Amino acid sequence: MSIPSTKSEIMMETNPGSLASESYRSLRFNMETFALDQGIQTVSLTSAGRGEGKTTTALNVATAYAQIEKRVLLIDADLRNPSLHYTFGGDNSKGLSSYLMHQSTLDEIIAPTNIQNLSVIPAGAVPTNPAELLASKAMKQLLEEVKPRYDMIFIDSSSVLSLTDGKIVAAQCDGVLLVVDHGKLKRQAAKKVKEELELAKAKLLGVVFNKVNPKNAELFLY
Ligand SMILES: Nc1ncnc2c1ncn2[C@@H]1O[C@H](COP(=O)(O)OP(=O)(O)OP(=O)(O)O)[C@@H](O)[C@H]1O
Ligand SMILES: [Mg+2]
Repeated sequence: MSIPSTKSEIMMETNPGSLASESYRSLRFNMETFALDQGIQTVSLTSAGRGEGKTTTALNVATAYAQIEKRVLLIDADLRNPSLHYTFGGDNSKGLSSYLMHQSTLDEIIAPTNIQNLSVIPAGAVPTNPAELLASKAMKQLLEEVKPRYDMIFIDSSSVLSLTDGKIVAAQCDGVLLVVDHGKLKRQAAKKVKEELELAKAKLLGVVFNKVNPKNAELFLY
């Protein structure tokens, strides 16, 4: 699966006719087909390194699902490097971290967005112990509580080679999407990530090649 280079953050909203949007639709279609057989409801996004496109892909895939009237929740679990609140102009004082520290309730941290059917949980203030919080009982409890309320739950997480956070989140989800910056693709790193995710008992749903040169993107579409 590949996503061409784009100009805007949520192309699915701003330019639904673009090649990038078609790629996100295609990713949704592939995942839906797979989800039917495998019961996939919680999906995390990770990558080898930073800046490969996890957040952009999470935003667009979540929007793609919301556009077909699925109830979608997008959680920012990149606790050391929060970013979703920037997109939706929201407050980040309360969020996943404050819930995991038992300082906020679920209803206090879930925020609706300007996109119909899409709600978000921002990361919240940066905690001192992100890995422990993500591995805590409270994280499992949160996922159990949101599952009956939403059709799909996407979790934007951190990269896996430098931190354990991304693996901890991936292991708790039904599946994980690995986002790879096509221009920076290093086979060794990609192989290592795959091994790390397997060791963590995460289920790799697929690899999303991001920022593919639009000239070649059609070749990669499916
Ligand atoms: N398909 C794309 N085409 C062009 N630019 C993109 C694409 N995907 C992401 N970007 C840009 O690349 C940068 C990094 O993207 P993004 O924030 O989604 O990556 P990330 O993996 O979440 O990064 P981080 O590790 O910091 O969380 C951003 O400036 C984003 O706008
Ligand atoms: Mg990010």
